[in-house]
Amino acid sequence: MAKIVVIGGSGLIGAKVVAKLTEHGHEAVAASPNSGVNTITGEGLAEVLQGADVVVDVSNSPSFAPADVMEFFTTSTRNLIAGAREAGVGHFVALTVVGTNRPNTISYFAAKTAQEELIRDSGIPYSILHATQFFEFITGIAGVSGNGDAIHLPGNLVQPIAAEDVATAVARTAAGAPLNADVEIAGPEVMGLDEMVRRGLTFRGDPREVVTDAEAPYFGARMQERTLMPVAGVQLFETTLEEWLPANPPRT
Ligand SMILES: NC(=O)c1ccc[n+]([C@@H]2O[C@H](COP(=O)([O-])OP(=O)(O)OC[C@H]3O[C@@H](n4cnc5c(N)ncnc54)[C@H](OP(=O)(O)O)[C@@H]3O)[C@@H](O)[C@H]2O)c1
Repeated sequence: MAKIVVIGGSGLIGAKVVAKLTEHGHEAVAASPNSGVNTITGEGLAEVLQGADVVVDVSNSPSFAPADVMEFFTTSTRNLIAGAREAGVGHFVALTVVGTNRPNTISYFAAKTAQEELIRDSGIPYSILHATQFFEFITGIAGVSGNGDAIHLPGNLVQPIAAEDVATAVARTAAGAPLNADVEIAGPEVMGLDEMVRRGLTFRGDPREVVTDAEAPYFGARMQERTLMPVAGVQLFETTLEEWLPANPPRT
């Protein structure tokens, strides 16, 4: 049994990771501002990391404004690395996005790349998991791609994944030996970004039309057709969008 501290343990992925690790007999500790642990201010960090074997970082920036997200991931990761070193943590696991290591102009990806580099250079044994878009993120993508009643999105290819499957991958990685490498995880089906959002909104009876628009930006950026696609060697998970949608009614 290992002590595994999950930074962002109250979040979408974090709560599921804590539950899975606990189920498997580990001492999984959820750590986030809500439980008095803040990786930006350092509050509670040394205390929670004391005696930890593994730290899992599945936190996210409260603001996605380009400067804020860069500030969040660099400050948070530096503080976390310093705390993990001090506590003698033997495995640093982090979750990032497929495509951050390909040429792109997505500001969120630049911040995640900075986070990844700090971890690789930390000297702490690590595992970096790159996940594709979560099915749970469909509404968020629609929200930032809206233009009145129409949502404009390009047909760039994606291979989205259920958050439950992401959490399984993160928990398995945290319970295993450090990979000292980056690995990719994805869902079973390839589709267009436009098609993914259209299927999600249609199923839920959302009247907004998804317009396929090759010129439309994705979070303010234009991408190559395969920027968001995993490469050979990716670990594939089974949940399809068709299975996920009826099992995940919108939260009220
Ligand atoms: N969305 C996608 O499609 C996608 C795809 C691939 C990878 N990812 C990655 O997945 C990761 C997890 O995303 P998520 O959707 O599970 O996040 P989320 O639900 O938004 O949760 C964010 C977590 O971060 C915590 N947090 C915020 N500020 C913090 C601070 N100063 N110190 C410590 N913890 C802090 C929050 O704690 P409180 O609840 O206490 O505020 C919360 O637990 C992210 O790193 C993201 O890059 C996302």
